[in-house]
Amino acid sequence: MSKISTIGVLTSGGDAPGMNAAIRAVTRSAIYSGWKVKAIYRGYEGLVKNDIKEFTTESVSGTIQRGGTILKTARSKAFLTVEGRKQAFENLKANEIDALVVIGGNGSLAGAQVLAQEYDIPCIGLPGTIDNDLYGTDTTIGYDTALNTIMECVDKIRDTATSHNRIFFIEVMGRDAGFLAQNSAIAAGAECAIIPEDSTDADQLADFVARGVRKSKNSSIVIVSESQKDGTGGAMYYADRVRHEYPEYDVRVTILGHLQRGGRPSASDRILASRLGVAAIEALQDGQRNVMVGIANNQVVYVPFNKAIKKDKPIDKELITVLNELSI
Ligand code: F6P
Repeated sequence: MSKISTIGVLTSGGDAPGMNAAIRAVTRSAIYSGWKVKAIYRGYEGLVKNDIKEFTTESVSGTIQRGGTILKTARSKAFLTVEGRKQAFENLKANEIDALVVIGGNGSLAGAQVLAQEYDIPCIGLPGTIDNDLYGTDTTIGYDTALNTIMECVDKIRDTATSHNRIFFIEVMGRDAGFLAQNSAIAAGAECAIIPEDSTDADQLADFVARGVRKSKNSSIVIVSESQKDGTGGAMYYADRVRHEYPEYDVRVTILGHLQRGGRPSASDRILASRLGVAAIEALQDGQRNVMVGIANNQVVYVPFNKAIKKDKPIDKELITVLNELSI
């Protein structure tokens, strides 16, 4: 195993609050250990284009509290090609980068896995996505902040919903995962969450209406995961269905969109990102390669890339029961 003296760090895919805290932790922990740090801008796109510069401890000063990513991010098409990855490897060599830390979601870790397989470069992944859909870690960097952002928005919508006796369908992000929808629904006291993991979407809406929630309440809030199944899904779809099937209800839709991805990271995300950043450097020192570093049951864990990416992370059924019982 060749000795590591310089690492590269990049963020890729959708930005997530806490990514800066992770970059800071990786940078400072590596420098603390006597290594050099090369910052790669715009994710794999910057790696292919050689958009790389050395970071010092000062480079990450004043960043822990900032949302987004100071390294910028991209979804790179070039890196999906064999030639693109060859160029990426050439640039790693030219910059004397011995190992790579990738902060991102599913697609980003899949990129690290391919690069590691093709060019035998040690890669460590950090789970950075608001979706919380990576297997093997309890939460991902950015998830807690996004959850809190959604909760605050829903609290505000509740005020107007109650004033008008309305049903609101609020669409939240999560790609194919319902963590944001399910837990924001519990946190905001919503009446229902429609998530891809729980039975069929149609059943969940029918069940909500059948429970007659609205008869006993001044307003109802249904949190809808953005996930689409068979061309159906999303808040617009459910709102249209209710308008059509139950015209007596006054229905409105809010799609929260990208505001869920921005903002100052929560304390929880900053701490998670800091712990994971330090753990990533320790992992490399311990000879770990091609794993995602996560935290499960408050312990640092190493999850092989293929497990973290490919295995479905289940939603605890207890969360579904909690919401159903408390929304009567
Ligand atoms: O993966 C993070 C995420 O915000 C998803 O929740 C969402 O589906 C997607 O990214 C949106 O991607 P983009 O910013 O490219 O529109």
